[in-house]
Amino acid sequence: MNVPAKPEHRPYLFSGAVFEIGLRPMDMAQWLDTGSDHADFMAAKRARLNGRPPLYYQSLERSRPAQSELLRVVAENLLANHGTVYSGDGPLVRDHLDGTRHNLADETQEPLEILGNLVEEDFVLFAAEEGGDIVTAASNAYTSSGRIVSCVGRNMRFAHDPVPGLNEQLGARIDRVIGNVQPGKPVVRFNWFVTPIASRLFPERSHAANIEAAEQVAQALVQDFRKAGELLWLRVERQTFVRLPETGALAFGIHTYSHPLSTVADDVEGLAAMDRLLAAYSEDRLRYGGMLATRDPIRRWIAEAS
Ligand code: HEM
Repeated sequence: MNVPAKPEHRPYLFSGAVFEIGLRPMDMAQWLDTGSDHADFMAAKRARLNGRPPLYYQSLERSRPAQSELLRVVAENLLANHGTVYSGDGPLVRDHLDGTRHNLADETQEPLEILGNLVEEDFVLFAAEEGGDIVTAASNAYTSSGRIVSCVGRNMRFAHDPVPGLNEQLGARIDRVIGNVQPGKPVVRFNWFVTPIASRLFPERSHAANIEAAEQVAQALVQDFRKAGELLWLRVERQTFVRLPETGALAFGIHTYSHPLSTVADDVEGLAAMDRLLAAYSEDRLRYGGMLATRDPIRRWIAEAS
C-alpha cells in the first residue's frame, strides 16, 4: 500500500486520558480529503458498499431530502476545494485520480450511496425527531463491526453503549453536541489508537479481529519490542460535524488514516504525548481499543525511540 511519509493529524498532542468532547472549529475547505492511495482505496470501498449490504449501509426513506442535500453540498465542496482531483459537468462528476465518473442524478441509487462511491469519507445523517436526535441513514465502510449502521432509527446512547463508561461519563454532553451544531459553524474531533491492522477498511468482525490481532502481535513484541514500529499501525479517525442548512439534518463524516508506527519514530513531541496517554488510559479503555496487550511494548518502543 502506498502510504504518505508522516501522519497528517496528531490528535494525541491535544487529547486527554479521560473521554472528552474535543470539538474544534473546522474550515469547510478541510472537510474532505483524498489520500495517496485514493484509487486503490476507492475501489475497495466501492466493492464493500456495492448493493448496499446492511452491514455497511442502511437508510430510512424519510432521510432522502437530507441525503440529496448532503450529496449536493459535498459535490460543491469538491469542486471548490479539490478541483485538481474532481471536475463537474452538470450532474456528472469526474474523479481524475481513478478515472471514474459519477452521475449525481442517478435515480437507481440513493444519494448517500452515490456519495459513498464518490468520496473517501463515510457519512451518517441525524435528524431531530420526537425523543431526540436519531440516525436516519449511514454509509460506513471503514469499520465492519456494523455498529454505526445498526444505529439507523436509534440515538447516540445506542451507538456508544458498547464503549465502557462513555455514556455514563459523557452521554448527556454528546447528545447536546449532536443537537447544537449550527449551520455555518462546522466542527471536527478525532479518535486515535494503535493496531496491528494496516488496512483503512477494517476486516470482518472488526472489533474482535482487532483485539485478537493485537494479542497475537503482543506475543511477538514480548520477545522483541523493537519490532513495534513495523508491526503496529497508528490509526486516526477524523470526525466532522456539519449542519445542513435546508433540511436541518446533521452530517457526521468519518475519514480514517493509517500509518506504520515507525513513521512517527522521530516525532519526539508526539511520542511523549502518546506515552502520557497510554500510561493514563484506564484498563477498560485500553481493552476496548485493543491496546491492553500492546501497551507495554509500545511504551518500551517509545522510550527507546525518544
Ligand atoms: C461529540 C461527539 C462524539 C464523541 C465525544 C464521541 C466519543 C467516542 C469515544 C471516546 C469513543 C471510544 C473510542 C476511543 O476510546 O477513542 C467512541 C466510539 C464510538 N463512537 Fe463516538 N463520539 C461522538 C460521536 C459519534 C457519532 C456521531 C457516532 C455515530 C453514530 C459515534 C459512534 C461511535 C461508535 C459506533 C463507537 C464504537 C467504535 C467501534 O468500536 O467501532 N460517535 N466515541
